[in-house]
Amino acid sequence: MNYRHAFHAGNHADVLKHIVLTRLIALMSRKEQPFAYLDTHAGLGLYDLQGDQATRTGEYLEGVARLWGRKDLPAMTADYMQVLHKMNPDGQLRYYPGSPELARRTTRAHDRVLLNEKHPEDGVMLKANMKGDRRVAVHLGEGWHVPRALLPVAEKRAVMLIDPPFEKLDEMQRCVESLKDAISRMRQTVVAIWYPIKDKRQLRRFYQDLAASGAPKLLQVELFVHPLDTPNSLNGSGLAIANPPWGLEEELRELLPWLAKTLGQTQGGWQMEWIIAE
Ligand SMILES: C[S@@+](CC[C@H](N)C(=O)[O-])C[C@H]1O[C@@H](n2cnc3c(N)ncnc32)[C@H](O)[C@@H]1O
Repeated sequence: MNYRHAFHAGNHADVLKHIVLTRLIALMSRKEQPFAYLDTHAGLGLYDLQGDQATRTGEYLEGVARLWGRKDLPAMTADYMQVLHKMNPDGQLRYYPGSPELARRTTRAHDRVLLNEKHPEDGVMLKANMKGDRRVAVHLGEGWHVPRALLPVAEKRAVMLIDPPFEKLDEMQRCVESLKDAISRMRQTVVAIWYPIKDKRQLRRFYQDLAASGAPKLLQVELFVHPLDTPNSLNGSGLAIANPPWGLEEELRELLPWLAKTLGQTQGGWQMEWIIAE
């Protein structure tokens, strides 16, 4: 396990993933009933953008830094930006929330946050970062086991983020297996799988597997920052979202063109499609 998210925190892919995550949580919160947030590959929880790892790559400069301080932010970014402002009250962008911290800060008092991280050092830091919030449980186990270990939840409503490092060739297939495990145990689970886009041809099998997953509905959202034939580069990223809450598609249709314009580097773009329609 060599991957350390601190090198990539706040990059364009994090911005897409984390804004969509805050919208999933906001839309789930329209109903009073509680829900559980599950994170199979949680990372550290929060990151220092002035730390050694983040400054070595500077990826956040082409990501969250492009949103910081802007006056024309779309309404859909408000929850995400509010967390950032609370973490950086002096107006300097330094601390960045990972998915655990965003979920912890945007869920309600009666919701639960169930996190899992396998890397021993990152797991210890995640525990320390989440300390003191009794709604949060941190597990230091195997991410691929989370759907079978933790679903169904007592609340009968859940959002699950699957966000592995994609260091190994089989991780796309394992994401689809985890999606199947999740919906077989609790069919209504909202499952968001994040995935990198380098060369679209590498994704053909993944799209086919998603289409055959048996999810009731599956929406695919992609944001590009470079032309898709650019070699050796993270040209974009996507989220495959099973059981997206009502209203998400319309929100994203408004948000994605703005994100593509704001985060595009050599060439911004976006796409959204139902892989499984109702
Ligand atoms: C992309 S990062 C997660 C970022 C986090 N979800 C966020 O948005 O802030 C992937 C994480 O998965 C962890 N990891 C790698 N293999 C794992 C496994 N098999 N089970 C659980 N965690 C794993 C890595 O240590 C890393 O922290």
